[in-house]
Amino acid sequence: MKLNKHYAELSESYLFSTIAHKVSAYQAAHPDRDVIRLGIGDVTLPLAASVTEAMKKAVEEQGRKETFHGYIPSEQGYEFLRSAIRGYYADRGERSVDLDMSEIFISDGAKSDLGNLLDLFDVDNTVLVPDPVYPVYVDDNVMAGRKILYMAANADNNFLPMPDDSVHADIVYLCSPNNPTGAAYTAGQLAEWVRWAKANNALILYDAAYECFISEPGPARSIYEVEGAKECAVEVCSFSKIAGFTGTRCGYTIVPQAIVSDGQSLNKMWLRRQTTKFNGVAYVVQRGAEAVFTKEGMQEIQHNLDYYRRNAAVIGAALDKAGVWYCGGKNSPYIWMRCPNGMGSWEFFDWLLETANVVGTPGEGFGPCGAGYFRLTAFGDADKTREAADRIVAALKTL
Ligand code: MLT
Repeated sequence: MKLNKHYAELSESYLFSTIAHKVSAYQAAHPDRDVIRLGIGDVTLPLAASVTEAMKKAVEEQGRKETFHGYIPSEQGYEFLRSAIRGYYADRGERSVDLDMSEIFISDGAKSDLGNLLDLFDVDNTVLVPDPVYPVYVDDNVMAGRKILYMAANADNNFLPMPDDSVHADIVYLCSPNNPTGAAYTAGQLAEWVRWAKANNALILYDAAYECFISEPGPARSIYEVEGAKECAVEVCSFSKIAGFTGTRCGYTIVPQAIVSDGQSLNKMWLRRQTTKFNGVAYVVQRGAEAVFTKEGMQEIQHNLDYYRRNAAVIGAALDKAGVWYCGGKNSPYIWMRCPNGMGSWEFFDWLLETANVVGTPGEGFGPCGAGYFRLTAFGDADKTREAADRIVAALKTL
């Protein structure tokens, strides 16, 4: 047999696995220290009551012959959930987006689909990603052996790179609100990307996993707010962040009917791929996800999102107090801070772990342009976040 040689080109381990190992080793060496983890963006609040109630009911159904569900009739997802998602996009006032039911595909999470979608594209395609970047976009393409181009996201462009007409790529990844920087594009800025994509016959893979955190009027919640985006953009989203499904697994991907290249419909290709390689998301999970979009579900979810927003404000206030520059945390659960005293981001990671027993994510783990930056997540427990914020302020004072 011949192994995929491109795996040798990957960094030794996935960023968040590397951090988890470092923290475990630290805890093993210092069992008496209370380490607070604000590293990986994993939620800490439980599923909303509407979600667990819906799932319990669905479990009961699965235990009775008359209401039992076997293989999912459509790998694309149950109509009840796709219809709820359609309503979620439509019910946005001026930002309302009209989706066709056939364009909505239920998945087991954004991360899987961001990788799986690449099955539809030739390895000769050139891929453009921002730097810093959610490592999944890069690793998926390294594994396939695709050529990757990077565009710098930095303080000069407010961490929102705009298209450069002298650069050609076939696929571009955009994540807004951004992981890791928290920066979010307006519809006007996304319109520039749509224009560029059309001029290059390129596809935009738009990761909207954090759209639920948008609380200011400026940023777009969906790329389809831009006219013509349906001809060149696939949007990937997740229940992980909006509804705490990190351990439950459910997401959705919009593949518009209007994307056609060389006479082939991307929507049809994706359906063909999914029917072959995917048997759908569990009935019980899809019922839980449907409950997110009920009136009660939405209220409960907003309550949880506000809890995380308050955590972000607590971290932001601590950094303000310490005189540290940061962005994000307003339309995003991530705070992107500049490391103090010109420290490198892994250096700051070690220093903060040792001095304050607080874990964050080194900016450099997201790419070279992340050097000198550090990401903190607002998904932690509120008391622990307050404690971590106090410890960070106290530690920074010692510098
Ligand atoms: C992160 O910390 O960047 C996210 O939790 C990663 C993810 O959602 O897969």
